[in-house]
Amino acid sequence: MFFLTSKLVLMLQMLQIKFEMEKEKIEIFDTTLRDGEQVPGCKLVTKQKVEIAKKLELLGVDVIEAGFPVSSPGDFESVKAISKEMKEVRVCALTRAVKNDIDVAVEALKEAERPRIHTGIGTSDIHIKRKFNSRPDLVLEQAKEAVRYAKKRLEDVEFYAEDAGRTDKEFLARVCEEVIKEGATVLNIPDTTGYCLPEDYGNKIRYIKENVKGIDKVILSCHCHNDLGLATANSIAGIENGARQIECTINGIGERAGNTSMEEVVMILRQHPQKEYYTNINTRLFSEVSQLVAEQMGMPVPPNKAIVGSNAFAHSSGIHQDGVIKDRQTYEIIDPKDVGVDYSKIILTARSGRSALAYRAKMIGVELTKLELDRVYRYFLKVADNLKEVNEQDLIGILTANGFSVKAG
Ligand code: KIV
Ligand code: ZN
Repeated sequence: MFFLTSKLVLMLQMLQIKFEMEKEKIEIFDTTLRDGEQVPGCKLVTKQKVEIAKKLELLGVDVIEAGFPVSSPGDFESVKAISKEMKEVRVCALTRAVKNDIDVAVEALKEAERPRIHTGIGTSDIHIKRKFNSRPDLVLEQAKEAVRYAKKRLEDVEFYAEDAGRTDKEFLARVCEEVIKEGATVLNIPDTTGYCLPEDYGNKIRYIKENVKGIDKVILSCHCHNDLGLATANSIAGIENGARQIECTINGIGERAGNTSMEEVVMILRQHPQKEYYTNINTRLFSEVSQLVAEQMGMPVPPNKAIVGSNAFAHSSGIHQDGVIKDRQTYEIIDPKDVGVDYSKIILTARSGRSALAYRAKMIGVELTKLELDRVYRYFLKVADNLKEVNEQDLIGILTANGFSVKAG
């Protein structure tokens, strides 16, 4: 018995190694607690941040961006507390390309097992001229100095070229090359304003991959905002063109229209096995983590949100319900259990058909014959036309009114 079990474990390990050799790992960098928390009204206290960070570690993210320590004493404390608690996952702190920001971040990360500094500066013309009233050569110098300074304190230094989406590609490539020389380990190419089209964002990543000396020593990272609803598509385009890290948030929360939604990018990579990528995420925890973040941040998830919205696995039109009852896969591309949802929901409305009514009646213990179903269905439609949804209580009322007894519970 012991022999069989250990043989099985060995086989599973070999399968896992084969899988990982054939597929490429995509690092998941979670910024729910930094970019996500920048949303007005979403501010968290340290205790809440630590609770979410623990869940993110369980979920399997590779990096947690815990905050922007110089921004407030509270954020400093949160980064410090998260650094202390996390064991496996990298803990990252944001800074501007400013020495004092870097000093404060290093201090906050002091107890982290695997600390990372995330420093950077705006590189687009509009940022350079209007935000900094500066020049490209001066910005380049500041970027280099910041990475050099951070690298003296920590091994793992991620550089962001803010507004890279609108930055001239040749200048962007030059900045990337110079910060690699200074020791950057990860290069973040943010589409800060959510402006890019997937093809343009992908081309930008490919241009950097093909034109920057030393690029193979570092990880290229996508950080996309959702102003045009393209954050997820842009992140995937980034991956297809050479990026190996995605920066994202739970429920896609973040500045303005939000960041790339983690559950979306991870499920895209998982549901399309022909794409040669994998992540470390335990997708079965998505529903739970999504609810925790929504509750703690007071930011409800829209019902139609992909993967984690309450309607993501709910069916209400008769044609769809009939299909799903026969075979779930007729209208579902994801098994709800894979994202932590127990089962697909058949919602009763005036658009529902007989099979949905029979299915829901059976769930509460009433099996209807064909003739009974015809009769109850006529009654059901009259009730349903006056309601947005026929809930379980309404259904019990309909069945009782038609002479069926339903046991409570
Ligand atoms: O969107 C952005 O450019 C950012 C950087 C600070 C990484 O959030
Ligand atoms: Zn951002």
